[in-house]
Amino acid sequence: MTGRKARELWGGHFDADPAPLMTRINASIDVDRRLWREDLEGSRAHARMLAACGILSEEEVKAILAGLDTIAREIEEGRFKFRPELEDIHLHIEARLIELVGEPGRKLHTARSRNDQVATDLRMWVREACLRADRLLRELQRVLLDRAEEHHATIMPGFTHLQAAQPVTFGHHLMAYVEMFGRDRSRLADTRARLDECPLGACALAGTGFPIDRRMTARALGFARPMRNSIDAVSDRDFALDYLASAAICAVHLSRLAEELVLWSTPQFGFVRMSEAFSSGSSIMPQKRNPDAAELVRAKSGRVMADLERLLVVLKGLPLAYSKDLQEDKEAVFDAADTLELALAVTREMIKGMQLFPERMRAAARCGYITATDLADWLVREKKVAFREAHGIVGRVVRLAEERGVELDQLTLEELKKVDPRLDAAAREVLTLERAVASRRSEGGTAPERVREAVFEARRRYLEEEGAAGEGAA
Ligand code: ARG
Repeated sequence: MTGRKARELWGGHFDADPAPLMTRINASIDVDRRLWREDLEGSRAHARMLAACGILSEEEVKAILAGLDTIAREIEEGRFKFRPELEDIHLHIEARLIELVGEPGRKLHTARSRNDQVATDLRMWVREACLRADRLLRELQRVLLDRAEEHHATIMPGFTHLQAAQPVTFGHHLMAYVEMFGRDRSRLADTRARLDECPLGACALAGTGFPIDRRMTARALGFARPMRNSIDAVSDRDFALDYLASAAICAVHLSRLAEELVLWSTPQFGFVRMSEAFSSGSSIMPQKRNPDAAELVRAKSGRVMADLERLLVVLKGLPLAYSKDLQEDKEAVFDAADTLELALAVTREMIKGMQLFPERMRAAARCGYITATDLADWLVREKKVAFREAHGIVGRVVRLAEERGVELDQLTLEELKKVDPRLDAAAREVLTLERAVASRRSEGGTAPERVREAVFEARRRYLEEEGAAGEGAA
C-alpha cells in the first residue's frame, strides 16, 4: 500500500511515494470516516455557492451534486472503498468524485482547503452530538422525575460525610440529580450557541481571491454566520473543548449517581435492587447480584475526562493556524460522545427498572440520632434558647442515648428533663422522622409538599418544550 493515490491529489512536486510508516501515522480515515455525512453536506453547499458566484458553471455543479449523491449511496450501502493511502474522508470523497464525474470533480476544491473543510465538518458533527446528549438527558430527567414524584414522601437518611445527617425524602434526593442534569443541558446549549459560526471559506488560513459568498454557505449549513477571522476559523477547536468539558462534567454527575446506586444496592444499605437486566451474578458466589452497569458508568466517566484532557494537551502551545496535530481532535470527541451517550441511556434504564425498598430507607433513617437538629431547633423556637446553647443541650441528650443504646425518640420524658428541664412532652414529638421532614418547608427544602412542587415545576421547565435545551438553568 502506498500513498500514491493521495499524491495524485496534492503531490505535484513530489517524486517519491510516502513511506508505509508515513501512511500509517498520517491516515485518519479509520476515525474521520464518521464525518462522511457532514463532509458531503459541506461539499454540496460549497458547490452550490461556487455556481451562484459564477466560479463554476451550473452544468459542472450539477455533475458534482449527482456524483456526491452517488457517493452517499455507496457509503450508506457499504459499497464505498476506504483505503488508508487516501488519508482522510475529504480526500476519499474528492478522489471518488473525480472517478465518477471527471473534470467537474477536479474543480470542487476551488476556493476551499481541507483546513476549513474539516473544521466545518467537525463543528456540524459536534452540533448534532450536543442535540443527542440533550435528548438523552431530557429522557433521564423524565425518568428521575417520575420516580421522585412517586417517592416525594419516602423517608431516607440524608448524608454528609456519608454519615446519616438529617432525614430527607428519596424524591428530594433524586431531584438533586434532575437539577444537575439540567445544568448539563444548559452547558450543551451554550456550546451550541457558541459554535454557531461557519469556518468554510477561510480556506487554508488566509481567505481566498475568489469572489465567494461565505454567508450563503454558512446559511446552507445551518450556521448563524461565517466565522469572522480566517486564521481563527481553521485553528479553533474551542467548540470541541466546550463539548468535551460539558460531556466530562455530565459524566462526573453520572458517576456520582452510579456510585450511589452501587452503595444503595449493597445488602448493608438495601435501599434499591437493580433490575436483573442491568446486573450480573458471580461465577462462584451464588447469592451475588452485582450492579455491574452502575459500576461501568462510574468507571467510564474517566474516559470522558481523559478525552477532554487529550484535546487540551493537543491544543496547548499549538501555534496558529493549522497544524496536523489538529487531526488528533476527532478521536477524543467521538469517544467522549459514544461513551457519554451509552452511559446516559444505561443510567436511564437503571433508574427506570430498579426496585425500591422504602421500609429499608426508613429504618436506616431511624439510626444515628438523625433528628438531633430538630430538637435543637425546637429549643430555639419554643424556649428561646440561643442556638449554640441548644446545640450543647442536645449534644448531652445524644450522649445519654448513646450510653443507653437507644434512639432519641426512645428516651423517656424523665430522662430528657434530667438533661434540661425545658425539654417537655412537646419536645419529644419533634423527634419523629415525619415531623422532621415535614418541617423543612423552606424554599428548596425536603418537605414532601415542597418536593411535589419541585417535581411539578421541573416538569414544566425541563420537559414541556421539545428541544428547549438549557432553558432549565435560566
Ligand atoms: N485530516 C486532516 C485533519 O483532520 C484534514 C486537514 C488536512 N490539512 C492539511 N493541511 N494537511 O485535520
